[in-house]
Amino acid sequence: MVDAKQLPMARGLGKTDRIDAWWKSPIAMATYLAVMIAYSTWRGFMEADFWFFAEFGRSAGQQTMYIESNASHVLSPLFSPIILPGEGKLGGLIPEFLYWMSPAMFILIIPAGFRGTCYYYRKAYYRSFFASPAACAVSTPYDKYNGETRLLVFQNIHRYFMYLAVAYMFILLWDVWLATQFHSGSESGFIISVGTLVLTLNVVLLGGYTLGCHSFRHMIGGIRNKFRGNGGAVAEACWKACTGLNKHHNKWALYSLFWVMFADFYIYMCTTGVWTDVVLLGGI
Ligand code: FES
Repeated sequence: MVDAKQLPMARGLGKTDRIDAWWKSPIAMATYLAVMIAYSTWRGFMEADFWFFAEFGRSAGQQTMYIESNASHVLSPLFSPIILPGEGKLGGLIPEFLYWMSPAMFILIIPAGFRGTCYYYRKAYYRSFFASPAACAVSTPYDKYNGETRLLVFQNIHRYFMYLAVAYMFILLWDVWLATQFHSGSESGFIISVGTLVLTLNVVLLGGYTLGCHSFRHMIGGIRNKFRGNGGAVAEACWKACTGLNKHHNKWALYSLFWVMFADFYIYMCTTGVWTDVVLLGGI
């Protein structure tokens, strides 16, 4: 048996013998993720009712979560399903001491948990935020590489977030349906606005991301030893479709994240009157 030999490698944060611009990718990813996290945090807190944030959003008399112009209803995906503390069926379940919370805070745990434990994002943020390692053949600042052991075992919870994320897709689909309906007095009917299209594309991108999830792919067909008999043909077709999406999981992950934020930003801009949600078809 041949003894395993460790190749000589420079040691210390960012030390490497690589001569290419390996640092560009982790820096770009760190910037992208930091902007997305900062934006979603800001928007989530904007509709909270405490301290500095009482000056914004609903508590200041101007909600920024959904567009109600032209009798249509376009709800931001960051706040869906909308849970207004103390209001409606869902909001009525919230205890009074939590009335300061923003509707986003009740539901963002699902998309945040799903993305935070996603296999692709794990690689992305281990590299860009923790330099563990920053890139292939680049030294880490740590003495020893432990992999996903100890506390990081909690990442296995991803499969359960996947179940919730799949269910969440139906809520977002329902929002698209609501964005195609207008109600004005006794009149009601069909409407397509730019906001409807923004929400539709959001569901398409999130669908591509969610249905290409490694855990979903395993559940839908990967778990089987063979595709013969017992619904095997259906499982095989689903598995192949998931595999097609899974091949580009990184792109679905990045584009869908951007579009969720853009959809919210679009709605925010329309509620503040800077932009107008133009009606393209139907409406009043
Ligand atoms: S592995 Fe990325 S969402 Fe499941």
